[in-house]
Amino acid sequence: MVERSAPVGVMDSGVGGLSVLGEIQRLLPAESLLYVADCGHVPYGEKSADYIRQRCRHIAGFFREQGAKAMVLACNTATVAAVADLRELYPDWPLVGMEPAVKPAAAATRSGVVGVLATTGTLQSAKFAALLDRFASDVQVVTQPCPGLVELIETGDLGSPVLRQLLFGYVQPLLDAGCDTVILGCTHYPFLRPLLAEMVPQHVAIIDTGAAVARQLERLLAARGLLAEGPAREAAFWSSAEPASLQAILPLLFNRPGSVQAFAL
Ligand code: DGL
Repeated sequence: MVERSAPVGVMDSGVGGLSVLGEIQRLLPAESLLYVADCGHVPYGEKSADYIRQRCRHIAGFFREQGAKAMVLACNTATVAAVADLRELYPDWPLVGMEPAVKPAAAATRSGVVGVLATTGTLQSAKFAALLDRFASDVQVVTQPCPGLVELIETGDLGSPVLRQLLFGYVQPLLDAGCDTVILGCTHYPFLRPLLAEMVPQHVAIIDTGAAVARQLERLLAARGLLAEGPAREAAFWSSAEPASLQAILPLLFNRPGSVQAFAL
């Protein structure tokens, strides 16, 4: 019998999922959260779907050992590669994946041109193509893969000249194409909102799906009578790279310190 007080496991290739973890904690403060950053294998965006599936199986197995009542794939790239596989493996386990916010963007755009910043893996996937077919047939979608961005965000230095320059090179073509809505299709990118605000005109909306993922988790847990009543235990963190690196940047990306343990490769 699964307890309401059991934790929720949240994973990403690295620090990106912390943007989702923050939304979950805001919406569901009674939930105890486990976070695995697969920093020893980042970036997922340039790896094969098969490789990512193996990583996700490994991490899902770990969450199950920890007694997690649900899992959140706080990573668009991991979702396109692995969510179907995990659902098949664990059909009764609530699993939340995420996808770029194409539907809300298509509804919001007034220029009729929407931009998507995401990883190569996400943009090349059949799942993303299906998303466009389903929700974006009436708008023009300009996609922009962003190699190199995730690695720079992983350092925690969110204002470096090299990051600024790389981001500018990815954003400007979207603005030149007339986008008035830009989708952040990778969970690392919400950390770039302050920089993006300097680069895009005010009328351009920037959207991500972190809050929607938290709401979906709430729905799945509520439907099974598994919403925690609290009090929550402190969030627990693991990294498959040097734990000290994640520990050092947690206060910056998660607004509070936490202790990080080593996650076996
Ligand atoms: N944060 C991930 C995403 O949402 C992937 C980043 C990466 O490892 O390439 O797509």
